[in-house]
Amino acid sequence: MCGIVGYVGTKQAAPILLDGLSKLEYRGYDSAGVAIMTDEGIVVKKKKGRLEKLSNMIDGGDAIKGIMGIGHTRWATHGEPSDMNSHPHLSQSGRFAVVHNGIIENYLKLREYLTKKGFEFISETDTEVIAHLFEYYYNGDIIDTMIKVIGKVDGSYALGVLCADDPDSFIAVRKESPLIVGLGEGENFIASDIPAILKHTKNVYFLENNEIVVLTKDDVKIYNTDREEISKETFVVDWDISAAEKGGYEHFMFKEIMEQPRAIADTVNPRIKDGRIVLDDISLTADYIRDINKIYIVACGSAYHVGVVGKYVIESMVRIPVEVIVASEFRYCNPLVDDKTLVILISQSGETADTIAAMREAKRLGARTFAIVNAVGSCIAREADDVLYTWAGPEIAVATTKAYSTQLTAIYLMSIYMAQELDMLTPELLAKYIKALEKLPDNISKLLENKGEIQYIASKYFNSKSVFFLGRTLDYAVALEGSLKLKEISYIHSEAYAAGELKHGTIALIEEGTVVVALCTVKNLFDKMLSNIKEVKARGAVVIAVAEEGHTEIEKEADYVIYLPKCDELVMPSEVVVPLQLFSYYVSSLKGLDIDKPRNLAKSVTVE
Ligand code: F6R
Repeated sequence: MCGIVGYVGTKQAAPILLDGLSKLEYRGYDSAGVAIMTDEGIVVKKKKGRLEKLSNMIDGGDAIKGIMGIGHTRWATHGEPSDMNSHPHLSQSGRFAVVHNGIIENYLKLREYLTKKGFEFISETDTEVIAHLFEYYYNGDIIDTMIKVIGKVDGSYALGVLCADDPDSFIAVRKESPLIVGLGEGENFIASDIPAILKHTKNVYFLENNEIVVLTKDDVKIYNTDREEISKETFVVDWDISAAEKGGYEHFMFKEIMEQPRAIADTVNPRIKDGRIVLDDISLTADYIRDINKIYIVACGSAYHVGVVGKYVIESMVRIPVEVIVASEFRYCNPLVDDKTLVILISQSGETADTIAAMREAKRLGARTFAIVNAVGSCIAREADDVLYTWAGPEIAVATTKAYSTQLTAIYLMSIYMAQELDMLTPELLAKYIKALEKLPDNISKLLENKGEIQYIASKYFNSKSVFFLGRTLDYAVALEGSLKLKEISYIHSEAYAAGELKHGTIALIEEGTVVVALCTVKNLFDKMLSNIKEVKARGAVVIAVAEEGHTEIEKEADYVIYLPKCDELVMPSEVVVPLQLFSYYVSSLKGLDIDKPRNLAKSVTVE
């Protein structure tokens, strides 16, 4: 959470920083600010609220002249969103300006210490201690000072720091929070994520914990905490700049929904060779898989919902017991893990604090870790024993769509791969699954062509107070995601229920006009779903059913039916989720809400 950028070059820094921050707003949008090195020293401008407010305040950046600066977009942790608590924070004399993403855990102790030394605090943030620490330890040598400061703070940080004594360079560091360095021609950058600098360069360094970087317009030097210079490999990003732009769409979320056929094809196609699943990037052998006693799938939010699908798919295909658990619980539940346990971590950002902590705990307990990640070079991708990338490209909307869909695809790939390596599939069955995967992009494209139908249904019910999503087994797993999508972007109360469970209490909430979305794609449970639909209809519910083409008998029971192209049942969740994403999108749009940046949320949850 929180996004930081930094620039040094020959162009005006402020507009570049504002543009970079606009690509990082998904990380938080409670306030924004910049610090620019001007001829008169460091000038800080910051404002509570969306980036647009800051941009208006400084004329899109034109109001402050200077060719080096740092910027920040905030998701508040310590101290409410306010102008004062916004970053950058200045040290007492104004010599240092600091932007920070992360949490300083011992900030109260440090604040007390610095107060005794005569420092006055004007914000409620943890970050202000860093600015004052810089001043306290400064001896004319900025690298030395940085080493001293990070030696004093506990917690997570990505820091960008300007020093008024040095008009040509700035310094940055990271620990646990992400930070990349962008390498340009006569200009260099830091950023929390690639989209912020993609317009300027595709060459980046991924910083490791406590690597300190000093940037001038022509040079980037990296040091460890022993002050030894480190050389790093340049990573060349293969995304196009259009990947991080709206490209004519009104919202990133809609663009990302529409990109799903391409994203799924990119994730699947390179991994199918001569009728087999080939996962060159991972090292799970048949002997290892045979020995697995248990699989945990650990993730948060939508990624956790992928895990629920994964449980059904892996158990039915590979017959290994799978437990799915939210990452924030895993560490504290004394999990039954040993060296024969495979722990699968699923994460779009690869930076989610709870998932990182769970991964480290799993490793400590001796498990092998396997990550399904979208963000290349992210913490989870680097630390897990194996990583299977989802090639969704950058996802900017806070509510995930294409990353969720590619995570599902990665789970199918992995399940089929394990079954294939264990010789559990006949050639016919393997061919059938591979064909199902290959057909998914076309099927989803067809579904997207019918978006008008979903928009119409949304227009009828966008004022609902409460919406229930029901399904059984795989459909239940997708119901969880449909319900989360709706609540996070439309603020409508919603619950997902295993359809058979509803009558054990929750059915009391169904009344005249309550909207129920009934997912009915699991063939052997279709009749049971019909009965569940009848139960809620009898209590006055309006039922929107989702079923596979051909199951027209459902029209007798449901008020609306959304049909999905026929496909193998195990990959059906990939189709089911699409109308649910569109439904949430249109409901939010009809309510006039900020679809890409829903209230209280941030995309990368880097705090526990
Ligand atoms: C919901 C959503 C979140 C994320 C969750 C995990 O639309 O995006 O629930 O799925 O915060 O994030 P990652 O996948 O980055 O670990």
